[in-house]
Amino acid sequence: MKPFNQPDAGHAVESQQAYTQARQSMVANIRDMAAADRSWVAGARSEKVLAVMSRVPRHCFVPQALRPHAYGNHPLPIGHDQTIGTGSGYQAAVLSGLAGQVYSLEVVPQLAASVARLLAALGYANVSVKAGDGCLGWPVHAPYDRIIVTAAAKHIPQPLLDQLKPGGRLVIPVGGHAEFQQLQLITKDAAGQLQHQAIEPVRFVPFIGAE
Ligand SMILES: C[S@@+](CC[C@H](N)C(=O)[O-])C[C@H]1O[C@@H](n2cnc3c(N)ncnc32)[C@H](O)[C@@H]1O
Repeated sequence: MKPFNQPDAGHAVESQQAYTQARQSMVANIRDMAAADRSWVAGARSEKVLAVMSRVPRHCFVPQALRPHAYGNHPLPIGHDQTIGTGSGYQAAVLSGLAGQVYSLEVVPQLAASVARLLAALGYANVSVKAGDGCLGWPVHAPYDRIIVTAAAKHIPQPLLDQLKPGGRLVIPVGGHAEFQQLQLITKDAAGQLQHQAIEPVRFVPFIGAE
């Protein structure tokens, strides 16, 4: 959630070639800014992550009218009072290139349905999307090597800790929704013991639902 300079942020792009250039520019900016500031999260310095981001057509995951702005340094609305993320399918698409299998939960049923259709149409065959409360996890496929939460929780949901594999990692923004939250990394060791590490302040939309 650190800002990065994006030359095309205010400049509308419309052709496929322009989208590709804007995407490469976005990735180059993330790489440069992360190299200049070592406090950036490790993912921003990972060439593996950046290589996937340079391939995923981010503009396909935002409403048509906002596509020219898809590669700018700002959140974009995707409907239902939500911003680009699992609800849009973008992050799931990036994770698709990094993991063997991705299970994604989205609480807004309409978003879950449209995202499942979009990901299938774009060929992301290793992503399963379900409408449901992320606080409860998805027990049937557990345990998970990695769990990434992209809405802010007041507390870390116990089901997510339970569904984490020994040796696994959970990343989650924790805190009240009107302020900045703390991004936390929770590691479960081989004996099932949990270690918590604060990564950095972030700002996410709040969890909707039981939490
Ligand atoms: C802001 S988006 C994630 C953005 C992410 N940081 C990104 O850009 O990659 C948060 C999504 O979480 C969903 N959400 C909120 N509460 C949820 C819950 N309890 N379970 C599952 N999804 C939830 C919202 O509907 C929204 O689509």
